[in-house]
Amino acid sequence: MAIKLEKAKGVISRDRKVILTTTRVPYPFVADRIEGEYAFDVDGNRFIDFTSFIAVYNFGDGPSAAVRNALASQSQKVMHSSFNDFYGSVQVDYAEKLIGMFPKGFGKLFFSNSGTEANEAALKFSKIFTKRQYTLAFYNSFHGRTMGSLGLTTSMSKQREHFGPFNSVVHAPYAYCYRCPFGKEYPSCGMACLDHIKKYTFGKEVPAKEVGAVFMEPVQGEGGYIVPPKEFVKGIREIADENGILLVADEVQAGFMRTGKFLGLDNFGVEADIYTLAKAIGGGLPMGVTVTRSSLGDIPEGSHSNTFGGNAASVAVAGATLDYVKKNMSMLMSASKSNGALMTKRLNEMKERYEIVGDVRGIGMMMAVELVKDKKTKEPAEKECGEVLKRAFENGLILLPAGASTIRLIPPITIQRGALQKGLDVLEDAIKKVNARMK
Ligand SMILES: Cc1ncc(COP(=O)(O)O)c(C=O)c1O
Repeated sequence: MAIKLEKAKGVISRDRKVILTTTRVPYPFVADRIEGEYAFDVDGNRFIDFTSFIAVYNFGDGPSAAVRNALASQSQKVMHSSFNDFYGSVQVDYAEKLIGMFPKGFGKLFFSNSGTEANEAALKFSKIFTKRQYTLAFYNSFHGRTMGSLGLTTSMSKQREHFGPFNSVVHAPYAYCYRCPFGKEYPSCGMACLDHIKKYTFGKEVPAKEVGAVFMEPVQGEGGYIVPPKEFVKGIREIADENGILLVADEVQAGFMRTGKFLGLDNFGVEADIYTLAKAIGGGLPMGVTVTRSSLGDIPEGSHSNTFGGNAASVAVAGATLDYVKKNMSMLMSASKSNGALMTKRLNEMKERYEIVGDVRGIGMMMAVELVKDKKTKEPAEKECGEVLKRAFENGLILLPAGASTIRLIPPITIQRGALQKGLDVLEDAIKKVNARMK
């Protein structure tokens, strides 16, 4: 497909002069609008969207009409109502509804504007609740880029370069079984990663009694879409319980139906003590929430707050999005299951056919392929990963990378079968061409 990029080129050259820092993909997509599973650029080119604009538009056009109405009607009244200073019914209605979606015993929530802020709040709250100073997080994790969350994040050292030192966080290996940090294989590994925490993190680095919280993504997102075995997640819950440590589930990317369940952690039969959500819950507007277990009690007044948390416009849109999810829960679960199964099947076929596809993993509609130069050495195919993304773009598909050489596939959960098949065809064609050149 020959795509015209005249307007796009103009925007990009102006962008380079005035925009300070970004994490741009290696292809020139200049967003104009979306229609369900299709994204259009400023030149009118249409792309199948396998990004949901970073796991935000999880439901395509499903909630669009209700979202627009909610925004229009709230904007007639007030967009920002200083929710942390004054009370507001839109926010309380929403909080009651959202908390109703959580396991029994939850609780209360705090509003913020992004994933990183939701995690900052969780970090501070866990310190208040436990009066313990250390936090445990995992290598390869991504919890955001503000200083507190960045202390937890270790998905790439360039994200931390020049910003340290980071205080009072210790890191342990996540169960990245495709690249086991201990060189073992699951399940014969005997869960060496859990032992490491007990023996080394707590035995040598910080006593467990000084650790207030463990932050975990149920599926690591930016770090490469890494799905741990159930045993790992359950083991972390047990370690937390044995030591009075709070489990914080960062559901910013995996939550809100992305894996086919309301929460990513629901796939593992485990409950957290604190959950953080952002991205898709805002329905396209900035919003984050930190949800706590009731038994943890309250946060003293004045100890944490913000200006825009609970922004009336964001909450109205989030409310319409949540209503859509509640009404369509079984449809969303089955769409995620059947579309996810199709992706898994097609991606596994690609793994059989092409040397470059080292691993296929994911849950529901949170899928990924990890590209390698050689299936045996597993050397990450970083340059080739960029080439696949570029080729896919040139042929009408937008995709995002994750980790060193992983491509994530996160279309709207409700993507139409035809668009999903076509998108997978485009991806396969790109992989095939890059694979052939690699030999
Ligand atoms: C799991 C996870 N946590 C936190 C964040 C940070 O969210 P935000 O970019 O909204 O600050 C992200 C962003 O990708 C994420 O995937």
